[in-house]
Amino acid sequence: MYQVDAKVINQTEVIENHFILKIFAPEIVKKAIPGQFVMLSAWSQRDPLLRRPFTFNRIFCKEGSFELLYKKVGKGTEIMSNLKTSDQVSLLGPLGNGIKFTQNMKRIAIVSRGIGVAPMLAIVDSAKEKGIEVYAYLSAATENLLLRKEEIKEKAKLIYITTDDASLGAGGKVTDFLAQTLIDTKMDAVYTCGSKRLKNHIESLKETYGFKAWVILEEHMACGIGACKGCICRAKKANNHQDRYLLVCKDGPVFPVDEVEV
Ligand SMILES: Cc1cc2nc3c(=O)[nH]c(=O)nc-3n(C[C@H](O)[C@H](O)[C@H](O)COP(=O)(O)OP(=O)(O)OC[C@H]3O[C@@H](n4cnc5c(N)ncnc54)[C@H](O)[C@@H]3O)c2cc1C
Ligand code: FES
Repeated sequence: MYQVDAKVINQTEVIENHFILKIFAPEIVKKAIPGQFVMLSAWSQRDPLLRRPFTFNRIFCKEGSFELLYKKVGKGTEIMSNLKTSDQVSLLGPLGNGIKFTQNMKRIAIVSRGIGVAPMLAIVDSAKEKGIEVYAYLSAATENLLLRKEEIKEKAKLIYITTDDASLGAGGKVTDFLAQTLIDTKMDAVYTCGSKRLKNHIESLKETYGFKAWVILEEHMACGIGACKGCICRAKKANNHQDRYLLVCKDGPVFPVDEVEV
C-alpha cells in the first residue's frame, strides 16, 4: 500500500453527474488488481475530512495510470467533479483484496447494476488478457446509465442488457438471462456489484449450478485500512450459529456471495 500525491491526467463527464477520472500513479498501478480500490482526497479543508473509496475501473499497467468511474453524490464527489488536468489528488492504495483468476478458468460472467459496473471493466480487461471468456449481464434504470457498455461489449463474448424502462435491451431481471445461459454453459466464476437483488439471485443460481460467485461490496468507509471498524458487514452464520462480522475494506471488498449478508 502506498500513500502518494498523484496528478490528474484528464476527466470526462460521461453523462450527467457521472465521471471518468484518469490519474497517473505508477507505484499504485504496479500493485493494483481488479476489485481493489483507492482512498482518494482532492481537498484540504475539514469538510469533507476523510478520503473517499473508489474501485479501479480500468488499470493501465504500461502507462502507470488508472481510471475511476464515479457518480457525484455528495461533497467529496462534487469537489472531485471539478478536477482538471494536472490537478493533484492524494491517494492511498491499492487497498483490499481484489480478484485473482485461477489457471483453469475458461469462462466468467459479470453481473452489475448502475454504477455497480465500476469494478467490472477492470475485471473484463484482465480476463481478456488471460484468455478467459467473459459473459456480461448489465442492468440499469435507463439506457444512458449503462456506463461502459461499449468497452465491455468490445471485449465480452456475449453481452445481455436490461433496462427498467426497456429503453435498451429487454425489461425484467438481468439474472434471468444468466439463468438461461447456465442451462447449457458452464461458468467458472460470476462477479456481481451494485444490487442486493442481483447478489441474492446469483447466490441461488450458484446452489443449482455450482459455480464460484463473488460480490463486490461498497460500504461506507472512513479509513480503508482496517483501523476504524466503520465498514463492518455481517458474515453468514457458520455452523456454531455465532454472529460474525467482517471488514469490507480489509476482508473484502470482494467476498464469496454466500459468505456475507447484504
Ligand atoms: C470499496 C468501495 C469502492 C467504491 N467505488 C466506487 C466507484 O468506483 N464509483 C462510485 O461512484 N462510487 C464508489 N464507491 C462509493 C463512493 O465511495 C461514495 O459514493 C463516495 O464516498 C461519496 O462521497 P461524497 O463525499 O461525495 O458523498 P457523501 O457526502 O459522503 O455522501 C452523500 C450521500 O451518499 C451516501 N453514500 C456515501 N457513500 C456511500 C456508500 N459507500 N454506499 C452507499 N451510499 C453512500 C451517503 O449516505 C449520503 O446520502 C465505492 C465505495 C467503496 C466502499
Ligand atoms: S474503513 Fe475503517 S475499518 Fe474499514
